[in-house]
Amino acid sequence: MTSPNATLQIGGQSIELPTLRGSLGPDVIDTRALGSQGYFTYDPGFLSTASCSSSITYIDGDQGLLYYRGYPIEQIAEGSDFLETAYLLWNGELPNVEQKQEFDALVSQHTMLHDQMLSLYKGFRRDAHPMAVMVSIIGAMAAFYPESGDVADAKQREISMFRLLAKVPTVAAWSYKYNKGEPFIYPQNHMGYAENFLYMLHATPCEDYQPSPVLARALDRIFILHADHEQNASTSTVRMAGSSYANPFACIAAGTACLWGPLHGGANASVLAMLAEMGDVSRIGEYVNRAKDKTSGFRLMGFGHRVYKNMDPRAAIMRQTCYEVLDELGLHDDPLFKMALKLEQIALEDDYFIKKKLYPNVDFYSGIVLRALGIPTSMFTAIFALARTAGWIAQWNEMIVSPGHKIARPRQLYTGPQRRDFVPVSAR
Ligand code: CMC
Repeated sequence: MTSPNATLQIGGQSIELPTLRGSLGPDVIDTRALGSQGYFTYDPGFLSTASCSSSITYIDGDQGLLYYRGYPIEQIAEGSDFLETAYLLWNGELPNVEQKQEFDALVSQHTMLHDQMLSLYKGFRRDAHPMAVMVSIIGAMAAFYPESGDVADAKQREISMFRLLAKVPTVAAWSYKYNKGEPFIYPQNHMGYAENFLYMLHATPCEDYQPSPVLARALDRIFILHADHEQNASTSTVRMAGSSYANPFACIAAGTACLWGPLHGGANASVLAMLAEMGDVSRIGEYVNRAKDKTSGFRLMGFGHRVYKNMDPRAAIMRQTCYEVLDELGLHDDPLFKMALKLEQIALEDDYFIKKKLYPNVDFYSGIVLRALGIPTSMFTAIFALARTAGWIAQWNEMIVSPGHKIARPRQLYTGPQRRDFVPVSAR
């Protein structure tokens, strides 16, 4: 879709640039032809740059809206499940009953890891961070499925997509088991996706574990809420890596590595650490004041977002999930949850947070749910990666099949020395 041209006046020159109109959201100025006119755009951190066109996920940060293929996240979280969400993200439409059964069955047929991969795990130190293990094991899958490198072949892409979605829970659960020094627990293909993941985490060969439906549903909802979030840092990394037609396992490993950073996937663990350090509702004011003081270097973790300048819709769903999980476990008086609720209330009434449009994000409450499910903080980012794999795959596949595909190759504003002559070391 097109909209009126934009005119750029520069050094007495007038450059006409087309603008493009999406189905929702602001128009974008198409600057592709600018390079041939001797100019590049400059936008570190992509504050104002649409890096691609995509029909998968839409966010309206001002209104606090998140849609997967047009469906509001609240409706998906309420009525769908994670595998159905993955189907929707990949295919653009919700499945009918047969399509859903077929999709679920296909995923459940690929949950086991190649037996040789056990040796890979055993090469790690026992205290290896689960994300370090995930990056390695997911990347190593390319060596087990070399035919997946043929990304032009739709059949190969499809098999890799199913393998990735099916195996990441096993990869993540086993990284935890390895830390604990417990034997790996094999996936149970008759179980639901989240149920099976909880089982692989908490069962042992000596003791069975049957997760309650309420807890499995809560984890499934966490997976849904994290499944995709348009062109965030890790998704852009997957697209960047995939733009060279690299193997899909390598691309998802690259996205996993990017997600590991504390500014992206690591925030929910920081929320728990902050609440634990706070210790009591009486100290909330002190922390809020610290967050407002620029010299303190402290931020309220779980608050603020690059895109949402309103309530992150995922945070509201997560808050509700907190109530359900804590209720199921009889933890009505969970002190961290009480503190989180009070902190949210105080911050939302504070001028600083109101003016800067800082609202709770998805991470504010997800750590409390994960902790209640018996999942240690070291696994939080791994769970985020597991869920986001669904979206990464959808975005990767969309990029590969998009017409006029180009390798990603940003330009730069060079600020180094100009040409100078080399001086031999003896003369320096
Ligand atoms: N506490 C106090 N002040 C804050 C906070 C916060 N949590 N977040 C932003 N600000 C202030 C910041 O100091 C700045 O003030 P000023 O304009 O006076 O310099 C202003 O708000 C804008 O902040 P920014 O850092 O320029 O905004 P950004 O879009 O670059 O950063 C963010 C977004 C999420 C990194 C940031 O809000 C933050 O560090 N939040 C805490 C960490 C967190 O919860 N991260 C999880 C993000 S959601 C997960 C996901 O979707 O992947």
